[in-house]
This record gives sequence, structure tokens and C-alpha cells, in this order.
Amino acid sequence: RKGDNMDYMVLVNKNNMIEDSYFNGLDLVECKDILGDTIQIEKEAYKSYLELKKFLETKDIHIELDSAYRSRETQQSIIDEYTIKYGEEYVSKYVAPVGASEHHTGLALDIGLVIDNKEIIENEELMSKENIYLEIHKYLSDFGFILRYPKGKEEITGYNYEPWHVRYVGIEKAKEITENNLTLEEYVLENNKVLL
Ligand code: DAL
Ligand code: ZN
Repeated sequence: RKGDNMDYMVLVNKNNMIEDSYFNGLDLVECKDILGDTIQIEKEAYKSYLELKKFLETKDIHIELDSAYRSRETQQSIIDEYTIKYGEEYVSKYVAPVGASEHHTGLALDIGLVIDNKEIIENEELMSKENIYLEIHKYLSDFGFILRYPKGKEEITGYNYEPWHVRYVGIEKAKEITENNLTLEEYVLENNKVLL
């Protein structure tokens, strides 16, 4: 069955690219993004996202999905769009090459904000709402998510700080990674050391 071999700890980056066969094993469900368009997301990640969203509403924070699962084609179109809009330098810091994006797993989510009934989706504007993101970050691990590209870890992750990009790994691992102030790269490396 689809999803049976899902590895919620899968490391995807420029050195660990997704293979074509990977896409067939994903258990994706459909949902709506912040603009009402239909997108896809990994099943367990979606369940946890909905719980996080519901919890944040009790704190008067309204989140919606900017992006979740992306096919290779979608990633390429984002690269093209951002290259035109912001240039190659920006793209190298904020957008993964095709095959190197963890959005291909359906486990990575970009969290958008709705403030006073207005959808906030542009990166610069999202950046200016950092105080809201800092509040959201406090609760991520309780719902199985980690902040994937934190400040100060740019050299390790290969990307600039992205307050909106979170990654589902499950509650237990999310807590361990967050409490130890690790990136997924560092966690996976540490664990390999233990295994050796
Ligand atoms: N923004 C992240 C790095 C991605 O494109 O997957
Ligand atoms: Zn993202």
C-alpha cells in the first residue's frame, strides 16, 4: 500500500536528492491552499497540520498552507518564477533545485498567514511578521514539526532562514531535534555516528 514505506525522517537536500521512483510511494491527500487552489500533502503531515492550525486559532493566529507537496514540474516553475522576480542569487538561497526539495516528499509545508482577513503570501511580507512566526515556532514540535531552515544554521542547511518552512518528522523526533537545537542534517549525521 502507498505510504507503507514512508520514512518520516528522510533527509532531502542538495547532497541527498530524491529519485524518480520515490514519488510513487507517497500517500498524498488533497487540500486547499491559502488562495483556495487544490494542492497535495502527505497524509500524516496533513492530520498534524490541521491540529496545529486548530491549536493556533486559540492563540488568535490564523495559518493556511502556501505550499506543501511539489512535483518536479512545480519546483521547476517556482525556480523560473523566482529567478525572474528576484534573480539567481536569491533563488540559490531560498529555492531548492529540482530533486533537492523536501517539498517533493509532501512532508514540508510553507505556512502562510491570514491577518485581518488578508492573505499574506509574499516572502518579504512574511518575513516582516516574524513575531507571529516566533509564536508559531514555540508549538511546532508538539505537533511533530520542526523549523527546517533556522537562523544561524544557514551553512549547514544550505538555505537562508525561512520562518514559514516547516517539516513533519513526528512528535518524538521533532521534540528531540528541537530541544537539542539541531537541524535535520545534524540529527541524521549524529545518528549515523552512533550506528557506526
Ligand atoms: N524553500 C526550500 C528550500 C525549497 O525550495 O524546498
Ligand atoms: Zn518550503
